[in-house]
Formats: sequence, C-alpha cells, structure tokens
Amino acid sequence: MKKDFISIADWTKEEIVDFLNLATDLKNKQRNGIEHHYLKGKTLAMFFMKPSMRTRVSFEVGMYQLGGHALYLGPAEIGMGKRESVEDVAQVTSRYCDGIMARVFEHSYVAGLAKSASVPVINGLSDLLHPCQIMSDMLTVMEVKGRYEDVHIAWIGDGNNVCHSWINLASRLPFKLSIATPPGYEPNAQILADARNAGISEITVTNSAVEAATGADALYGDVWASMGQEEEKAARLKLFEGFQINDALFSHANEDAIFLHCLPAHRGEEVTAEVMDGPRSVVFDQAENRMHLEKALLAKLMGN
Ligand code: CP
Ligand code: NVA
Repeated sequence: MKKDFISIADWTKEEIVDFLNLATDLKNKQRNGIEHHYLKGKTLAMFFMKPSMRTRVSFEVGMYQLGGHALYLGPAEIGMGKRESVEDVAQVTSRYCDGIMARVFEHSYVAGLAKSASVPVINGLSDLLHPCQIMSDMLTVMEVKGRYEDVHIAWIGDGNNVCHSWINLASRLPFKLSIATPPGYEPNAQILADARNAGISEITVTNSAVEAATGADALYGDVWASMGQEEEKAARLKLFEGFQINDALFSHANEDAIFLHCLPAHRGEEVTAEVMDGPRSVVFDQAENRMHLEKALLAKLMGN
C-alpha cells in the first residue's frame, strides 16, 4: 500500500531513523560519485501554490540524481481547488506520475491530495506543517552534534508550521524542545498535546526567549511573518522584537550551541547578520541536507 509523507507524526521512530540513515548513505554516494538511480524512469509532479527556492530546487535535482524526472507546476497552471477539485487533480496526476510533492496554503489541500491520489504524496510545506524541513534539520544536528538523543533545541519566534513539525518530531525521537513565542503566537494546542501525550521528549513553551535559550545546543529561527501573512508583517515586527536571535541570546545557550534556520532569513529581524553569517551558523548545511533527506523520502516512497 502506498504511504504518504504529510506529517512526521505519521511515521514511527524506526522509520524516521531509517530515512535519516538512508539520507546519509545517499549523501555519501553523491559525494563519492557513486550512481544511485533508484527511481529510473519515474516522475514526480511538484505542485507549488506558494513561492519556493530550496524545496523546488532540492526536489528537482534530487529526482534527477535518482534517475527520475520532476515536473514543476506553479499556481497559475493547475488552479487546484479553483479550476479543478483537489480530488480530481490527485486522480489525474496519479495516472501520469509516480509521486506528488505539494506546497500549499491550507493543510487540507495536501491532506486531500494524499487521500485521493493512488501514488505517494509528500508535503512540501503547508500552513500547518513543514516535515521535510525538520527531517533535514535533524540530519544536520546529528552531523554536527553526533547524536539526536538529549540534544536541546530552542525554537525562538512564531509557533508556526516549522515549529509544529519540530513538535511532531519530538513526539517520535527523544530530545529536548523548548519553544519561546510572543503571547498569542504559541504553537497549535492539539499538536502540542499529542506530542506531550506521546511521552517521548520534554517540550516546554514560554514567552521568554532567554528562558528557552538557556542551556540549549541549538537556537532555531524562522521568519516572523510566514508566506500568506505578508499584511501582518509590520505589526509582527513590533510584537516579535524581543525574539531576535543575536549574540546576547546565544550567551545563555551552551558554549558550542549552533544556529539553525530553515531560510529564507531576514538579517536584522529574526536574526542578526553576525549570527547568520558567523561560525555558529549551519544554515547552508541544512539547505543542502534538504536534498539528501528528500532523496531518501523519494526512494523509500516511490522505489520498488
Ligand atoms: N526552507 C524552505 O522551504 O525554503 P523554500 O521556501 O525556498 O522552499
Ligand atoms: N514559516 C515559513 C517557512 C518558509 C520555509 C513560511 O511558511 O513562510
């Protein structure tokens, strides 16, 4: 039976570790020029209802490296939910392609694609979740810190889609997740409750960036206004003022703490240029790992 990658919480710890290990294997193969055409002759349809740089390029190049092909379909081409229903788009695409990756606004679109498609569907970001990002980030943390167990990740900023996927991962792998947001911008209560009920990781939520950053091994930043929230940007810039990741905040973290960001980043807003471009920053390793991790997902979901 086909399986989709809509949320990290849909997968077991063993499966998540398998993805991470395969990503490392594929990264090594790529670096050593070893061919790994696990998806020869296969095609991935990529639906983008929002802009993208990393997701588009990493999936497209990843498919090419796996011996397959990726098809880019932007918002003007499909009109998903407008020109044609999500269900019909899913069924038609399943007749041409071997997999679908979708970046959407409402989460129900990617969930609906998964329900109606007979081929695997991968969530390339929704308003609710960004699972490929967090899997790639954990791969990066493991490379730098040598482990995931007991690593302390501090999320500083908006309790958004990227934050939600961190919470989902904390419900499967054991580590420490401390989240600091301005009042009213805390993560989704249900996602948080489900992860806490899983009893795997310690997850704290506070309105103090210093409290969350204290003793952390990594500080994680993301934009204060996500795609679709552009008109809130000016108000958010004020509300999020105390949540900038800077050297002062890092002074509360562990000495060898690293800086993580999903990108794109806004220097001078959620992070200073000193931190973003400084020695603690591993943001471009994260960006590279998007491709290796996604290749592992594609190979496992779409391979024979
Ligand atoms: N991090 C990330 O998803 O980047 P893009 O929006 O450029 O795809
Ligand atoms: N939270 C951001 C992540 C971008 C990769 C957004 O949804 O715009």
